[in-house]
Amino acid sequence: MLVTLSSVLAKARRGRYAVGAFNINNLETLQSVIAAAEAERAPVVVQTSEGAIEYAGMEELGLLTHLAALRSRCPVVFHLDHGKNTDLVVKAIQSGYYTSVMFDGSSLPYEENVATTKRIVKLAHAKRVSVEAELGAIAGIEDFVSVEERDAHLTDPTQAKEFVKRTGIDALAIAIGTSHGAFKFKHESRLDFARLKKITELVSVPLVLHGASGVPAAIKAQCTKYGCEIAAAKGVSDSSIKKAVGLGIRKVNVDTDLRIAFDAGIRKFLHDKPGVIDPREILKPARELMTKVVRQKMKLLGCAGKA
Ligand code: G3H
Ligand code: 13P
Ligand code: ZN
Repeated sequence: MLVTLSSVLAKARRGRYAVGAFNINNLETLQSVIAAAEAERAPVVVQTSEGAIEYAGMEELGLLTHLAALRSRCPVVFHLDHGKNTDLVVKAIQSGYYTSVMFDGSSLPYEENVATTKRIVKLAHAKRVSVEAELGAIAGIEDFVSVEERDAHLTDPTQAKEFVKRTGIDALAIAIGTSHGAFKFKHESRLDFARLKKITELVSVPLVLHGASGVPAAIKAQCTKYGCEIAAAKGVSDSSIKKAVGLGIRKVNVDTDLRIAFDAGIRKFLHDKPGVIDPREILKPARELMTKVVRQKMKLLGCAGKA
């Protein structure tokens, strides 16, 4: 069934777990995410970035997800991830496909972020669409050379409180040291948990952790064995994710782990079966590996069994 982000996150909040939000670009990725939700009986967020829409089309991804959600026993949110182009965010709200949108004004001056987010919230709520917004720069702690620089980029708890109050958003994406992509940390994964704790104390809406891929060792090993150059990749450790959920994170965004699972599956298959040219056979192991990764994440987040 298709549901709003706010309903799923309200339940997660009461149950003190987090819901996984997985980026899709094509049919196989969508099938993997839904298959994982079914197997784990978990609520799930299926999300499309602006790049995914450019690649596959809003209507195409929207219709596929609606059909999958309609047939599923699990609550499925269809969410726009990192909407930066306001015209596209408005189009997503009005399309009737999305039950939730993220307006990402994090790179705008603060007052402009507040004003635009507020305008999006008004439009979205009139259509019963939830809104996630972002404050702070999603970037690794190691990217900042000084404490001052870190403070200037990571989410300020007091400003977060004010931002939520002024905009009326349903969920807030915060910056506590995670970053997008496969190369998040040079050493061990390190998040600013003290900052997260403070934000949880002050902010009234559910919090979202972006850049939460773990780069699982087995998937990375399979990728590198068959030629993918990601030996130096490092994700957020499972223990850090668990701690973040314990401290109040309620939505966890994962894209990179799906990408590397897809890659690992295809590379191995093409190496092992050089005579096969049928895309259905080539994509099958990739799809299975993505399902495995999503199921592991659902168990870690505590949303398994909560559908
Ligand atoms: O947050 C970024 C997601 O991983 C989406 O990436 O814009 O390349 O689709 P993308
Ligand atoms: P990863 O790159 O860690 O998968 O993060 C994805 C994300 O935050 C999508 O919004
Ligand atoms: Zn993100």
